[in-house]
Amino acid sequence: MNVPGAIIWKGGRLQLLDQRLLPGDVRYLNISSLEEAIDAIRTLAVRGAPAIGMAAAFALVVAMGRQEHQTGGAFQDRLAELAERLRQARPTAVNLAWAVDRVCARAAADPCLQAIREEAEAIHAEDRLICRAIGEQGRHLITPRCTVLTHCNAGALAVSELGTATAPLYLNHADGVPFRVFADETRPLLQGARLTAWELAAAGMDVILICDNMAATFMARGEIDLVLVGTDRVTANGDVVNKIGTLNLAVLCHHYGVPFYVACPSSTFDPDTACGDDVPIEERDPAEVLGTAAARVPARNPAFDVTPADLVTGIITEHGVAHPPLADSLAELLSEPRLPFS
Ligand code: MRU
Repeated sequence: MNVPGAIIWKGGRLQLLDQRLLPGDVRYLNISSLEEAIDAIRTLAVRGAPAIGMAAAFALVVAMGRQEHQTGGAFQDRLAELAERLRQARPTAVNLAWAVDRVCARAAADPCLQAIREEAEAIHAEDRLICRAIGEQGRHLITPRCTVLTHCNAGALAVSELGTATAPLYLNHADGVPFRVFADETRPLLQGARLTAWELAAAGMDVILICDNMAATFMARGEIDLVLVGTDRVTANGDVVNKIGTLNLAVLCHHYGVPFYVACPSSTFDPDTACGDDVPIEERDPAEVLGTAAARVPARNPAFDVTPADLVTGIITEHGVAHPPLADSLAELLSEPRLPFS
């Protein structure tokens, strides 16, 4: 990759790239306690659904390493306590709970530090392969000279290596396919401007930054062929929860007849939640929105929105692409236990 990795795990030490400082400053945070990990997740030093899941899994290993003498029931009880605190750090992305649950399930079978360390490392290692598989499943969508619009950052900084929504872009770029990417700047925290534009430009892609409110104009002019975004949670009916502003794009795509695709690992699918209305949407500090506003007026800051399943053309997973009706297609695609990534 051409940008530094979001998560470094070496010799039992966890380092997280501080994404709040990007692209100006490349600095890593040393995470040596659960509190530091929770703070990094809450403040978006580490962000993106799969990345916060992986960071949380490693954070459990770091925190449990402090009581290495514990085994058996005491180990499980302490782990469950720490896991619950991590789950609360950010409520919307299901990958956080998924990764923490997976570490706890491993400890239920084998309650010791070595076992949970292996599990966290397995989650991390699988993630690279899953991103590549998503890229393979979605690469046909990128046709020569097409223009793709993406929102927020579902790239290497949010996952590992190829990212999710960016994986088909990376694979086509490596093959020399010519295409352009429009990156929404993604107010209020500018993940598109600071992270996606930086990451794709560093890879040598033809990337053009636009303000969020310009997407309609470029679609009306016929300049966008495809919208491709990541997601924090896909519910049983196929509703897609992603960065605030994604719904705007899906509505525009419907109006202008532009395909709207979503890419995610199967760990982002939440079959236990019926629909998007049931997903807790993180509401962040209004100060993030107020920014340079001259007047101290109230502001609202929901960090995610829900795109109804009927606005989604397809969902690209590592196991294949789900098409409408999404509820049936996802259930079929993700029902069987599959192990090609372990
Ligand atoms: O608030 P963020 O920056 O964590 O939001 C990230 C997104 O919305 C991404 O699109 C999503 O997590 C998918 S990352 C592969």
